Amino acid sequence: MTSPYRMPDNPQVPRPLRSRLLLDFERFKTGLPAELPAFVRERYGMDLTAEYAGRRIRLPFGKASGQLSMTAAEVQADGDAQLGFVVLKTVIAEDAAGRRSMGAWAIHETAMRVEPIASASLRRGWTVTWKGRGWDRSFDDYLALYREALEIGSALDMPVAASVKYHLPGGERGEEGEEGEEGEEGEEGEEGEGGFRVEEYEYTTRRIAEVGGRGAIIEKDFSPTLAGDDRALARENVLRWIREVPRLVSRAARVTLGLKLMNALFDDAFQVEILRAAQTSGADFLVCFNRLYDPVKQVAYGGWDLSDRNLRVLDMVPASPFALRPSLSATGNICSGRMMTEYALRGASSGQIHTFFQVPLSEYPATAGSRPARALHALLFHPEEGLIAWMAHLGETGELSPRDGFLHFLDIAHERARHSA
Ligand SMILES: Cc1cc2nc3c(=O)[nH]c(=O)nc-3n(C[C@H](O)[C@H](O)[C@H](O)COP(=O)(O)O)c2cc1C
Repeated sequence: MTSPYRMPDNPQVPRPLRSRLLLDFERFKTGLPAELPAFVRERYGMDLTAEYAGRRIRLPFGKASGQLSMTAAEVQADGDAQLGFVVLKTVIAEDAAGRRSMGAWAIHETAMRVEPIASASLRRGWTVTWKGRGWDRSFDDYLALYREALEIGSALDMPVAASVKYHLPGGERGEEGEEGEEGEEGEEGEEGEGGFRVEEYEYTTRRIAEVGGRGAIIEKDFSPTLAGDDRALARENVLRWIREVPRLVSRAARVTLGLKLMNALFDDAFQVEILRAAQTSGADFLVCFNRLYDPVKQVAYGGWDLSDRNLRVLDMVPASPFALRPSLSATGNICSGRMMTEYALRGASSGQIHTFFQVPLSEYPATAGSRPARALHALLFHPEEGLIAWMAHLGETGELSPRDGFLHFLDIAHERARHSA
């Protein structure tokens, strides 16, 4: 087992680099350089190139699926801010007749509350409280958004992924969860193999692949509300989903598939089992791990409890497999470059963010620009919490060695894997 990595409270940054960072942090409060990765390469000797879904991306920070990737204007703003990638809101799978067995996830809910949350470790973070679930408009509307987002992404060299919630059966072969669970919008459909509604997998995947072509990326969302659903109560059932889903998707069309894994309501040891099952499932990449679920309040939440758990679980698996395949995109309380570094040290080649793009404007040190741009400013240039400071720290302490004269973000995961192998 890998020994848990502990980062110190403050980064050790060589004095001349720190002076540059302080200067840049101040002057970029009103706007970032136009060619951000090239600027960082030149000025700091750092290569921020990262990887998402097998694609090289300019820097590791992307937008996670959710309420902030529902319109083409949002995707355009993300590209203009120079984010690494965008994952669109999750759509609920359907068959050719429009039947959605997971229709209960397509509810319309607008009220979202962004609020501070204290963790068990007594740190103050942010969470978004929201009772909604998936995309609540038509699948055709979703495909239109996807098409437009791909055009924007390809013009700005930014991968855009679709996100789908496919049907998942209950514990007994073919049995659904609670009666009525599928009822609200979905209708009974024919059950396919092992209880999976195969028609929904096929139809939804094919239509997405028609729009995205060979380059289509799909994240399969195992959401926190699903963790609280009756059908997730049987551990073996959860593992069965993870093993089966990649096969069902890849049979429908050739796409790059990521499994966005939920934090199940079981202990850490089971979370590791989920991870291991996912690593050998045939998925192309994993997203670890979606928000925690509070079964009493019946809401998903984030903050430090989320990142504490995610990092703890990732520490329980040997790092080396992640330095190879499938690649790992981290999610959960990435509100600083420091947290991105924590995940990279455990194998992540990119990080996906929701909450930090939604916090009050007063939380960003930047004073102008879109939220993604202000967030990137802090994520990269913050003198104590930013990625540049922490990459410099790893370079200074010998945990990251320069290659071709540069410190490479992607080497963080690889070097750590090498040392702990
Ligand atoms: C309001 C809200 C809606 C979300 N909707 C989705 C979704 O539709 N699909 C999905 O895969 N994840 C969804 N998520 C999870 C985020 O994509 C992200 O993985 C998670 O919030 C952890 O990142 P964070 O701590 O930066 O928020 C949502 C999160 C929030 C806060």
